[in-house]
Amino acid sequence: MKDLFRKFSKTGVLVIGDLMVDQYIWGKVKRISPEAPVPVVEVTKEDLLLGGAANVAHNIQSLGGKVFIAGTIGSDNTGKLLTNKLIEKGFNTDGIIIDGERSTTVKTRVIAHSQQVVRFDREVKSDISRFTSSLLLEYVASCLPHIKGIIISDYCKGLITKSLVKKIIDITKSKVFIATDPKIGHFNYYKNLSLLTPNLNEASFGSGIDIKDEETLIAAGKELITKLNCGSLIITRGDEGMTIFEKNNHITHIPTCAREVYDVSGAGDTVIATLTLCHSAGLSLKESAVVANHAAGIVVGKMGTAVTNQQEILKSMKECKPRDKIVTGKY
Ligand SMILES: Nc1ncnc2c1ncn2[C@@H]1O[C@H](COP(=O)(O)OP(=O)(O)OP(=O)(O)O)[C@@H](O)[C@H]1O
Ligand SMILES: [Mg+2]
Repeated sequence: MKDLFRKFSKTGVLVIGDLMVDQYIWGKVKRISPEAPVPVVEVTKEDLLLGGAANVAHNIQSLGGKVFIAGTIGSDNTGKLLTNKLIEKGFNTDGIIIDGERSTTVKTRVIAHSQQVVRFDREVKSDISRFTSSLLLEYVASCLPHIKGIIISDYCKGLITKSLVKKIIDITKSKVFIATDPKIGHFNYYKNLSLLTPNLNEASFGSGIDIKDEETLIAAGKELITKLNCGSLIITRGDEGMTIFEKNNHITHIPTCAREVYDVSGAGDTVIATLTLCHSAGLSLKESAVVANHAAGIVVGKMGTAVTNQQEILKSMKECKPRDKIVTGKY
């Protein structure tokens, strides 16, 4: 693992996708408003966290990887705050394009006494313009000499379009590992990629096969690989871990460790970030999935969209009590 970690700082990964801001407003409620039957929250603290594709990039950075980001923000204050936050954390922001026709995606949660009172979302979900798309592709091309992997980070906010995915594949000429965590509704965008990492629900939807047992899991995996012609497929299965389907017909089930779970949101981001970084640094897909499984297990034990680091992964590897054995076979 220490050898691997040393390689991380030289391993470039580009994250292209929907950048988001997760805003948290914390406060106390002491009375009901005289204006309407709603609580009045006395604000005590505000936090801005990196969300969406920015969270995927943050996961890679926190593991010690060299990360490049391509995405858009609006010409608004939230966009400035997001850029400042990224610069403060040491990210390169050259690939972030200000698109005056869109707003910066922000999800604001108001939380009082550990309970969410309301969430409001500000976003423009229409597809990006051809011009914005060409600027993003120019940036992707400029990154190619410095990267081994690309993560297409799609949250259905309009940045990832079918034609953009195709053009990314074209300019990389199959020399770069390209992974995506597919979203329902966009499955026909994700053809000819190196790796897809759907969860159970997404895999059921994308394959049209309701996954309820091992037999249907395998059928859905085969169907997705054939239909989308992906190099490999990893279906994440929540507390049951993940199942890897490789082109050579190998199938591997990796169980999770028994642990306390606080918040599963962001586990998918951690999986794809860790997998792509490890595989780009030279680990096999199976080895990368084992590390990603530890990483995701750690972040589900933290509040909110979280990240992990090298020390926590080493600790998890020493202490983890797997619920089951790793099982490999043919599908
Ligand atoms: N209860 C749990 N205990 C341990 N590990 C877990 C648990 N839930 C999820 N994980 C880890 O997180 C990975 C991804 O989880 P899951 O399949 O729920 O992804 P997801 O639904 O895409 O998550 P997200 O909410 O981020 O979209 C799992 O493969 C596993 O490694
Ligand atoms: Mg997910």
